[in-house]
Amino acid sequence: MTAPAVIPGLEQAPTKHPKLLAWVRQVAELTTPQQVVWCDGSQAEWEQLTSALVDAGALVQLDPTKRPNSFWARTDPSDVARVEERTYICSVDEADAGPTNNWMAPAEMKQLMTELYRGSMRGRTMYVIPFCMGPLTAQNPMFGVELTDSPYVVASMRIMTRMGTKVLEAMGTEAEFVPALHSVGAPIEAGQADVAWPCNQTKYISHFPETREIWSFGSGYGGNSLLGKKCYSLRIASAMGRDEGWLAEHMLILKLTSPEGKVHYIAGAFPSACGKTNLAMLEPTIPGWKVETLGDDIAWMRFGEDGRLYAVNPEYGLFGVAPGTDWKTNPNAMRTLASGNSVFTNVALTDDGDIWWEGMGSPPEHLTDWKGRDWTSGSEELSSHPNSRFCTPITQCPILAPEYDDPRGVPISAILFGGRRKTTIPLVSQARDWVHGVFQGATLSSETTAAAVGQVGVVRRDPMAMLPFIGYHAGDYFRHWIAMGKGVDGNADKLPQIFYVNWFRRGEGGKFLWPGFGENSRVLKWVVERLEGTGGAIETPVGFVPSPSDLDLSGLDVPMADIEAALEVSEEEWRAELPQITEWFTKFGDKLPGVLWAELDALKARLGVN
Ligand code: GDP
Ligand code: PGA
Ligand code: MN
Ligand code: MN
Repeated sequence: MTAPAVIPGLEQAPTKHPKLLAWVRQVAELTTPQQVVWCDGSQAEWEQLTSALVDAGALVQLDPTKRPNSFWARTDPSDVARVEERTYICSVDEADAGPTNNWMAPAEMKQLMTELYRGSMRGRTMYVIPFCMGPLTAQNPMFGVELTDSPYVVASMRIMTRMGTKVLEAMGTEAEFVPALHSVGAPIEAGQADVAWPCNQTKYISHFPETREIWSFGSGYGGNSLLGKKCYSLRIASAMGRDEGWLAEHMLILKLTSPEGKVHYIAGAFPSACGKTNLAMLEPTIPGWKVETLGDDIAWMRFGEDGRLYAVNPEYGLFGVAPGTDWKTNPNAMRTLASGNSVFTNVALTDDGDIWWEGMGSPPEHLTDWKGRDWTSGSEELSSHPNSRFCTPITQCPILAPEYDDPRGVPISAILFGGRRKTTIPLVSQARDWVHGVFQGATLSSETTAAAVGQVGVVRRDPMAMLPFIGYHAGDYFRHWIAMGKGVDGNADKLPQIFYVNWFRRGEGGKFLWPGFGENSRVLKWVVERLEGTGGAIETPVGFVPSPSDLDLSGLDVPMADIEAALEVSEEEWRAELPQITEWFTKFGDKLPGVLWAELDALKARLGVN
């Protein structure tokens, strides 16, 4: 063995997995941490980690009578969201990354990042986190191991994934796993004090789809550092799904039970900060309907033997947008958080040791804002970053569906695609068939949000809400979706129906036309009625849209003019959309499935354009 191998903890490995041992040693020798810790996922480990973070000033413990075992974290003001500009798909062939991803050759990226990682954990602890995405009881459990020098990441991964000793044991000595390397890129020199939120101005979030590896450097923010989430469960898993005939999607999963007791499972893909967590935890406003939560961000979908598409949530926690979350909008999230065991990042701290954010009722007189400054209701800036987050165990969700841990998943009846659009897109429309639904998904558009670094409010195409997460060529991804539509053994009639929703259309003065949140249950009811063949609809150029009388609006206090405006299909607005769709499709050249061009032609014809 090479000389500098005397890193404390390195030899205390609670595993004999040769590939894992060799990799951990190799990374330790490159990054030269002060010690190596093999995470067991125990309560004692959590307490040790969080109290060390509190002592170091990296976390503040909240008042345990209000928020048991919960903590407040503030990031560096520059490290607040996913960095799409710095995210790379390093496929061997550049063409396999496609026009929607940044690309660098794997060897070149590895060389560049190896130099960044050299000594990058100096003065820090390197944690080894064995984790499993999805139930450990799965036929083929989806293992990963993250190496990180961030204790914040360890604490967050304990909430967000199934991790620790039980995973290592299940891995035995042979199991395949996704190696996921993370460093904040901020070595501590001798005599130097640490900062509360270490990070590096240079950031790379790199994926090697062929070898199923993840290398992340420079950011501590969740989407860039909790590598089981976006990096593994979406970017790497989407490439696995392409190769193996399944789908890894940016989707919530919910269980909907009608007053008659009929159950439907619904998945929904909306871009980041466009309503997945809220819909997944929805409290219906219409009597007798019940929603239970299965997942709020990611769905892995495979065909079952019966030809239906089954969805599993690979995660174990909720990493939700804080602002706007309130007893009125999302009471089930508030209940989940009230049980404690949560980490809040970049929200505001109250003087009595609780948290607050915009949208949570009227503000207290004084707060400490997300930058650590005094804040009063007269302050000009927001108290919480618009992408501030809560990180909380899904098992605390009071409406968690018991099937959440079933490795077989749940059979999906309907897929909703949705975006955030002020205009054009009606509240809901049903696709004519699978290919039309794939067209709706492939042309999905949304205004950008604070979930990614960059300008907010700009309309962009975000296919299937996966623009930042497709781990390969988007044209091939569309082709994969079309192929999935053939079903198993020609059982295409068992596929989910596809719907396109928009909770965010605005009227005069910029106000939302549709009240959203719990009232979205009215749209879910219509979806079920369409599935069951009882719901009415008007055939429009963009699909089947309910007229106001097709929706259950009983007890809803919204002017009829607003409902009509929310449902309107304006041919003029849609005609303005066409050149943008053409431009978007042109990007994909030969890779764009011809059937999608045919869908565009058919839409043009229905809009009287040729
Ligand atoms: P996710 O990132 O896709 O999970 O989105 P969230 O469910 O966290 O919601 C993001 C933001 O949109 C939050 O500020 C929510 O309060 C807001 N939001 C969610 N659902 C609705 C809705 O139906 N109507 C409106 N107007 N806002 C919503
Ligand atoms: P979100 O998840 O979809 O809940 O915003 C985080 C993200 O996509 O960055
Ligand atoms: Mn997401
Ligand atoms: Mn969410």
